[in-house]
Parts: sequence; C-alpha cells; structure tokens
Amino acid sequence: MLLHASRTARIRPGAAPTPLSLRDLSELTRSVAEQVRTGAHEVVLDPHQRWYRRLHADPFVDVWLISWATEQATELHDHAGSLGALTVVSGELQEHRWVPGERALRTRRLRGGRGATFALGHVHDVVNSEPGHAVSVHAYSPPLTAMSYYAVDAAGDLRRTRTALTTGGTA
Ligand SMILES: [Fe+2]
Repeated sequence: MLLHASRTARIRPGAAPTPLSLRDLSELTRSVAEQVRTGAHEVVLDPHQRWYRRLHADPFVDVWLISWATEQATELHDHAGSLGALTVVSGELQEHRWVPGERALRTRRLRGGRGATFALGHVHDVVNSEPGHAVSVHAYSPPLTAMSYYAVDAAGDLRRTRTALTTGGTA
C-alpha cells in the first residue's frame, strides 16, 4: 500500500538510473505524509539529534520519516546517484540549495504540505530554523547508498569534504 509507485512505474530508456521520476517520488512522499498526519506512523522527537526511521525499502525506492528539533540540520550534501523528494508533514523547514550558475546558496521555506524534489547533482542543506519541531517524509530512488558533504570555500566555490555510506540514516 505504501508504495505502489514502484509497481506501476514505466521504464524510460536513457532517463535517470531509476524507473521512478521526480514526480513519482513527490507523489509518494505526499501520500506517506498524509499517512503520518493521520497517525499511521509513530514520530519520535529527539532534542539531541535528528531522528529518522526508514518506513519502506525495496529495490526501487526507500522512504524515510524524519523529525527535526529547532536548529537541527543536515549539512550541505548530495544524494550520490539517487533522485529524491521530500514533503513536510508539519512545522517548517528551510532548504539552502546550491545553485551552480550563481555560485550561491538559494533558500526556500517549506511549510507543512509543501515539498521539494532533488535531481541528480542536487546539493542542499535542510534545517529547522523555527521554534517548533518539524516532521518530513523523504524518498530516494534508487535507494540512497551514499552522500557526499560539501562546504563553500573562501573563494565561494563548492568543495566536497567527505563521502559517507548511508547504512543507517538519511538527509
Ligand atoms: Fe538531502
């Protein structure tokens, strides 16, 4: 029930390395976010670190539920070879997205019900800057296996600082 997107996806030769599109992932996170709103999934709030739980995994996609206390953030990162999407269930998140053509970070606010998609190469930091907690649902296809982290150096260029396997967590 959680995931019928992967069963109905059409293969598009030459497209991204997954049969799921950004729209599929966006619809999936909206659907699961609605489940979360109705209480179908337990949400844990941890004031000390970002809390997350994988709700679903199959060969095509994994889905994560994340809660964010104030000031909890991800750091600038990509999603390796995965496409992704998120929908905010409650609260508000800020996404700081690296725009290569501008060599700058662009910020957008994502309130409850709003979302974002991540094409290949998308580099962003996500943070809860609000006084209340936030909850969001994220999906990645192919399932997330690694993330690289970045910093903006003194010259204003994006520099990769490390790469980590995502064996137990997501962003
Ligand atoms: Fe991310």
